[in-house]
Amino acid sequence: PGTVSVTLRVNGESHAIQIDPRATLLDTLRETIHLTGTKKGCDHGQCGACTVHVNGRRINSCLALAAMQQNAEITTIEGLGGPGKLHPMQDAFVEHDGFQCGYCTSGQIMSAVAMVKEPWGKTDGDVREAMSGNICRCGAYPNIVAAVQAVRR
Ligand code: FES
Repeated sequence: PGTVSVTLRVNGESHAIQIDPRATLLDTLRETIHLTGTKKGCDHGQCGACTVHVNGRRINSCLALAAMQQNAEITTIEGLGGPGKLHPMQDAFVEHDGFQCGYCTSGQIMSAVAMVKEPWGKTDGDVREAMSGNICRCGAYPNIVAAVQAVRR
């Protein structure tokens, strides 16, 4: 199959790349741009491990075609904090032990950072609903909710 030229803006940097037009944003981030902080769990939009921000909104990058993201501002977990500095949501996950194995964590954190700017209610149940697209097979949910609530307060 042929390739297409696309320029992706990721964490403030432009990447002019040649990709298969069928390549997902997830695979392109990991395999072409070599940003492997974004994880592949299901590759079918069901687990949230691949969550990134596109123009400030959270999406499952396994469901997006990279070739459609020209001119979009993409943020991955690598771009969240400052130089040598964690984002407050990352600090909160550390403080509240919001993970066990860590595989879902970058997706959880990307989702949480976007979620706190969305018009959700304030209860723990609201956080669980808002974060229900991010699955944690270790069951760290109580601590994830505590971390998200710590940032929201
Ligand atoms: Fe994208 Fe599971 S890898 S939702």
